[in-house]
This record gives sequence, structure tokens and C-alpha cells, in this order.
Amino acid sequence: MKWREAGSNTGDPLILLHGFPFDSSMWDPQLAEVPEGWRYIAPDLRGFGGSELIGDRSLAMDEHADDIVALMDEMKIDQAVICGLSMGGYVALSLVMRYPERVRALVLVATRASADTAEAKKGRLEQAAKVRAEGVGSVVESMLPKLLSAHSRLKLPDVVEKVRAMMEGTPPETMARALEGMAARKDYTGELDTINVSTMVVRGEQDEIIPAGDMELIARTVRGARHEMVALTAHLPNLEAPDVFNTILAKYLKTLPPAFKLGDLSLSF
Ligand code: MLT
Repeated sequence: MKWREAGSNTGDPLILLHGFPFDSSMWDPQLAEVPEGWRYIAPDLRGFGGSELIGDRSLAMDEHADDIVALMDEMKIDQAVICGLSMGGYVALSLVMRYPERVRALVLVATRASADTAEAKKGRLEQAAKVRAEGVGSVVESMLPKLLSAHSRLKLPDVVEKVRAMMEGTPPETMARALEGMAARKDYTGELDTINVSTMVVRGEQDEIIPAGDMELIARTVRGARHEMVALTAHLPNLEAPDVFNTILAKYLKTLPPAFKLGDLSLSF
């Protein structure tokens, strides 16, 4: 597994989980501005970016979450703030539900807790077959106009190109297996009220991929969740309005209680 990181080696860890079909470079503007006292780590999920596509199954959200926990073990990180965008948010939910003790806080960006509808599943499986037969072009062309707001498409040509390059750089087999993995993902809407860590939900004002209602449901159901909206952005607010996004994130991180470290435990009799 490959990852990018920035900030202080001894800083409090925050792990950034990218969306589909991107890679860790989607977090470049965040890695460029790590608040003091923090360490940001952005892995390439299995098969994406520089991380190898291991195994021969579809890329399940649980498997990505297991990979992140293995990476935390390897880095000797007991707990981290987990920030996931879209598919990264599906992985973040799997992680918090299955390894709640490893999550210090949760930042869910442009994502949802529900599973795919039967129709969406069918569409994903058809898309997976098409990608295997014809390459990634059809996914790139169908997703690109929905990922960025009209404002971003007009004003931010570099971002448009970066997003296109990330998508075109994703190997077809990774894309196909990720589509299958997302089609099979679990519905967590009924379990949102069991999340016991500080949570912030961030959505782009004009996101066409994730309806506002899906994010509102998370914000309403997770106890004490904050809800932020980034104006003039769509599905990728961290790239479309990096300064606003970074400010929201940095402010939120300041609200967190001090990190729990195993070494802090002391027993008295
Ligand atoms: C993503 O950005 O990760 C995808 O849009 C998620 C999805 O297709 O459900």
C-alpha cells in the first residue's frame, strides 16, 4: 500500500480516504496545509494510485477498511480521525462500525449511509462489464460533468484536468472491482445512531451525485453531528474550494477533546 503524508511525524493522525475512481492525490490541497500538531495520511486504497490490486475479488468496503486498520497497526497508530469522501466515506462508515475503538472522530464528505438501490446496483454491474470490455472512458465521460459544479468547471481548469487525469489513471480492473464492491456495500442507515464519536458532515452545495437529503440524514441521526455546506461546489468540495474546506476542517479539529493514548492510562489503588 502506498500513501502520502504531511505534517508532524508526532502529530495527531488524520487519515484521508479518497473517493471513486480517484487516488490519494485528490487530497493534495489538504496535505499542503496541515494544521499545527497534526499528521495527515492519505493512502491509495487497494488497486488505486500506487497501491497494488491484490486478490481476485470485488473491492469490498470492508476490505478497504481492514487495509486501513492494518496500515494503522503498521504505523503504530491506535486511533485516528477518519475523513472519507464519497466511496472513502463508505469505507469510513465500515471502519467506524467494525473498529469503533480505532476512530477518534469522523469526517464524512459527500457520502451516504444507504446501500445502492436495485436499479443502481444493476447500473454499476453493467458499468463494470463495460469498463472491462472497453476501458475506463465511459465512466470518465459520464461522471466528469457531475463531479464539479458549473462554477468550478468554468473557473478551475486545473482542477478539471486533475480530476480527469486521476480517473483516466485508474486501471480498468480496479474500476470494475470497485463498482462491484460499491454495489454490494452494506446499508448503515439503521445503525447511524450507534456512532459514538464526534462526527462532522460536509457537503458540496450543488452535489448531484449525493442528494442533500442523504447527508442531512447522517447529520440528523448521528448524535451531535455538525453539518457544513460548501457553497459553489459539487461532489469534490476539498478540491473545488480548498481554502474553505481546509478552514472548516481545521476549525473542527480544534473542537476535539485530547487524543486518547494507551500510554496515558495509569492505575491507582
Ligand atoms: C465517489 O465519488 O466515490 C463515487 O461517486 C461514489 C459512488 O459512486 O457511489
